[in-house]
Amino acid sequence: MKKALVLGAGGFIGSHLVRRLKREGYWVRGVDLKLPDFSPTAADTFVVGDLRIPEVCEEVITEDIAEIYQLAADMGGAGYIFTGTHDADVMHNSATINLNVASIAARKKIGMVFYSSSACMYPEHNQLDPDNPNCSEDSAYPANPDSEYGWEKLFSERLFLAFHRNHGLNVRIARFHNVFGPEGTWTGGKEKAPAATCRKVAEATNGGSIDIWGDGEQTRSFLYIDECLDGVRRLVNSNFTGPVNIGSDEMVTINQLAMMTAQIAGKKITLNHIDGPLGVRGRNSDNRLIEAKLGWRPTQPLRVGLEATYQWIAAQVERNTPSTPLALPGHNTAVPSEISSRKGSLSPTH
Ligand code: NAD
Ligand code: GDD
Repeated sequence: MKKALVLGAGGFIGSHLVRRLKREGYWVRGVDLKLPDFSPTAADTFVVGDLRIPEVCEEVITEDIAEIYQLAADMGGAGYIFTGTHDADVMHNSATINLNVASIAARKKIGMVFYSSSACMYPEHNQLDPDNPNCSEDSAYPANPDSEYGWEKLFSERLFLAFHRNHGLNVRIARFHNVFGPEGTWTGGKEKAPAATCRKVAEATNGGSIDIWGDGEQTRSFLYIDECLDGVRRLVNSNFTGPVNIGSDEMVTINQLAMMTAQIAGKKITLNHIDGPLGVRGRNSDNRLIEAKLGWRPTQPLRVGLEATYQWIAAQVERNTPSTPLALPGHNTAVPSEISSRKGSLSPTH
């Protein structure tokens, strides 16, 4: 049985990926600071540990692992990464994890390391026009990301590529474009626009209004989680190193996203535009390279994934209204029997 190590297995994409790998017949070790928030992990074994600590990485990266999926990062949506408040933590925490993983994986001659970079590494100057953003892979340089989160992603791409060139580490690098779906963070400050919009619409009354940061004319594309995992698995099973975009090229304004969500909910909603962290003015996944190299493209329109996500978030909102004394968000009570704890001595943030 092929063994995979999923770093960040307690997070949104990581917890879905573990499930996917199990379905494909892998034995999986998951590692994260925490268990998944919304359902039990599907991993065969799960280590609660801090990957900034080299000893934790030494312990979980064992020679029998065939594939590492490095998803662990200090990240969130615009409300987390564009305020400037978390810049030092984001850069330090994520870079430290990647430095540990790259060197230990190379020394232990792990067969393949997948690294999840982000569209946030693309230069701001190519994303000023909301109707014509340029996010082709070859537009990355001269570099000019608009956030420290994007700079760290760019650094870590280069780090993994350097280990590939100098130490023969077999790497695959994807630049994810705004991935969403059920069991993603939907409240608390780290949620991205699709989840935030679903939550606000679910909380609003029919005929009410919701707040939108900025004028809502900024553009993005959103990729449903299952489509993202298809792209990841296709990249890993190919001989293509990347970096390559994994995203949707169905570009919408945030106003359109909000109105689509309201339509799904069957509510008449007006939009109240307020100040907030904005990020780039326009962004869309350029899928020419991934189509040429891997024959991959998303198969469903945004609306299909948004419907599933809205239903899940509306149920979360319903469960967590004060009148229904059910579980609080973010607490997974089903603890697998094989959990081990390697938290070490560092605190999660500095
Ligand atoms: P997430 O925040 O849900 O998952 C990241 C996980 O990493 C979290 O569970 C967190 O606890 C864990 N982690 C953070 N620091 C850690 C540490 N020191 N030790 C161990 N675990 C630690 O985010 P996600 O949406 O699942 O994203 C996964 C990866 O994909 C991240 O690297 C992210 O930057 C990248 N990415 C995601 C998106 C997106 O839209 N979701 C877009 C671009 C890139
Ligand atoms: N999060 C959020 N919440 N965004 C809102 C809201 C709201 O209530 N209202 C409007 N927006 C706007 C933001 O101002 C931003 O312009 C746009 O919606 C998209 O915001 P996010 O989805 O939070 O982030 P992003 O697309 O700018 O960046 C995300 O995607 C990257 C990859 O494409 C982040 O999740 C990054 O971490 C990720 O790497």
